[in-house]
Amino acid sequence: MKADSPKDLVPAFFDNTAQTYDSVVNWTTFGKDRYWKREILKQIPNCETILDLACGTGILTFQMAKQFPNSKITGIDITESYLNVAKKKNPYQSVSFLKQDAEKLDLSQKFDCIVSSYIPKYCDPKSLIPVCLNHLKPNGKIILHDFTYPKSSIVKSLWNTYFVILSVVGYFLPSWKKVFADLPKLIRTTKWLDDYEQVMKEHGLETHLQSLTWNSSAILTGIKKI
Ligand SMILES: C[S@@+](CC[C@H](N)C(=O)[O-])C[C@H]1O[C@@H](n2cnc3c(N)ncnc32)[C@H](O)[C@@H]1O
Repeated sequence: MKADSPKDLVPAFFDNTAQTYDSVVNWTTFGKDRYWKREILKQIPNCETILDLACGTGILTFQMAKQFPNSKITGIDITESYLNVAKKKNPYQSVSFLKQDAEKLDLSQKFDCIVSSYIPKYCDPKSLIPVCLNHLKPNGKIILHDFTYPKSSIVKSLWNTYFVILSVVGYFLPSWKKVFADLPKLIRTTKWLDDYEQVMKEHGLETHLQSLTWNSSAILTGIKKI
């Protein structure tokens, strides 16, 4: 049987998990998701327009709206149920949500900043970076965040043990069973960081890399120099 491609995993991971996502992402990362999002926020310049690619339930979108009350923020996501949770929670007039596939992004405006947490590993950088560039203003910034497989052997073995435990927990949380079982392999095999950095450089972006929490996640930024 053919292995799932990262993009094939998206409906399997997300179609039935929207209602519990906010709490699950927090406890499964021991609260690090909050810290990682604070680090993403530090990278965002004060600007007029921000796009949250794969906004999910809007956790980061609403944090951006709070930090930048004068910015117009658009969140896009491919999964209807996640967008419905985001729309229901939305207290901000400056925030709007749309259903779109990030790799086929087609919006009638350009943004000062495009931000995304946890999308890179599901997408092909050769598709995603050009569409982002088509939607980015001159001197605009792309900020990508996702999990990475730790480098140190001690951290790697703790990380692997943790995912074995999570895969057992998955038997008690059926909607999350496939995520807990298949996510570690995806993170171990993805080369998103190197691949996106290379494609960004090929398109003339000035890149910067920040590793987080013993290399278990990273933020890659690229600035479109005019
Ligand atoms: C783990 S959630 C992250 C949500 C949010 N960014 C956050 O940090 O809380 C991943 C999200 O990526 C979305 N996604 C995956 N591939 C996508 C694509 N090609 N286009 C748009 N959204 C996508 C999924 O629907 C899901 O909502």
